[in-house]
Amino acid sequence: MKLASSLSRLGTETAFDVLARAVALEQAGRSIINLGIGQPDFPTPSNIVEAAVRALREGHHGYTPANGILPLREAVARDVARRRGVEIDPDHIVIVPGGKVTMFFAILMFGEPGVEIMYPDPGFPIYRSVIEYTGAAAVPIALHEERGFAFSADEVLSRITPRTRLIILNSPANPTGGVVPKAELDRLVAGLERFPEVALLSDEIYSRIVYDGTPHVSLLGYPAIRDRLILLDGWSKTYAMTGWRIGYGIWPPALVAHAVRLAINCHSCVHAATQWAAIEALEGPQDAVERMVAEFDRRRRVILRLLNGLPGFRCVMPGGAFYAFANISGTGLKAVELQDGLLEEEGVAAIAGTSFGRFGEGYLRFSYAASIEAIEEGMDRIRRYLERHARG
Ligand SMILES: Cc1ncc(COP(=O)(O)O)c(C=O)c1O
Repeated sequence: MKLASSLSRLGTETAFDVLARAVALEQAGRSIINLGIGQPDFPTPSNIVEAAVRALREGHHGYTPANGILPLREAVARDVARRRGVEIDPDHIVIVPGGKVTMFFAILMFGEPGVEIMYPDPGFPIYRSVIEYTGAAAVPIALHEERGFAFSADEVLSRITPRTRLIILNSPANPTGGVVPKAELDRLVAGLERFPEVALLSDEIYSRIVYDGTPHVSLLGYPAIRDRLILLDGWSKTYAMTGWRIGYGIWPPALVAHAVRLAINCHSCVHAATQWAAIEALEGPQDAVERMVAEFDRRRRVILRLLNGLPGFRCVMPGGAFYAFANISGTGLKAVELQDGLLEEEGVAAIAGTSFGRFGEGYLRFSYAASIEAIEEGMDRIRRYLERHARG
């Protein structure tokens, strides 16, 4: 068979490889502490599950409109008005099977050989993978530990060239937990007025998982860029619905029809009962979300204390999401070496920073979507591993 050469440029998400290896080890009888995978360890709240069951019983079995059922798009518009203070036309919302799909479609719309797309590094690995798949040049926006992994607006603006078509931003961020301060977003938006042809994709999938009372600042709140902003959000992380496969994009008027056409060419529509469940998620009681975020916050404090107590480790306090991005350079070990050694010898799954970009060497990502007991046991095992192997 002769395959398209573009396939050789497609990357992957190492978190899934580490998960597969961890599951295989567990099935072979090993005790595994999984701090690798980025999904809430809570079940989907029962009112949401019941809404899906009801929808199936009521006969919602067929195709839906490709952009999603109107009651769901209206519910998303109300939620956006409540949480982001912005009025959105439900016709500008496209419901898709997961947050990833909005990102995939946005990058496909702008990417081709000869153009540049900027993306956060370290960042969610799929950005770079799909940018390169399209043949576009992937231009990293370096995120630094000293700034709590928030980008510098000046640095972003200084890297825009006549070939730049799209800038991808993500706050709160995977893998760092970094939250970009409002002042930096203000500066970025002000500077972007000089580049009216550059579009933006704001990945706000962790918008509800922020700590210390910091409000989430959405790029949707900036009227100056509304006509070129694609907003990505969804249900996966907020409502512990990663396996349901549902998310949404808010598209500027010029792009909505393209997004819907891509949906028709790709998946037709999102599973009908899941769409009804997603309405219940947005409009039903929110106490499960609050409990989940409070529990993540408790774990965040525990894992930070323990990580900073490990020899050769240091870690800045993440402001959102459920990841800690620990600097491991003091151990003298390479990130992949530590990732593989911890899994094979101690049964601790964590992800090497290099899975998230060129600037990820010297870091290990820990997901604290795991119980406090698991986190404590994991940190004990890491200490044992370091006693045997650290070269720092
Ligand atoms: C930054 C970021 N964006 C998007 C996604 C994709 O979410 P979904 O599972 O809804 O496709 C993830 C999932 O890990 C993520 O971390």
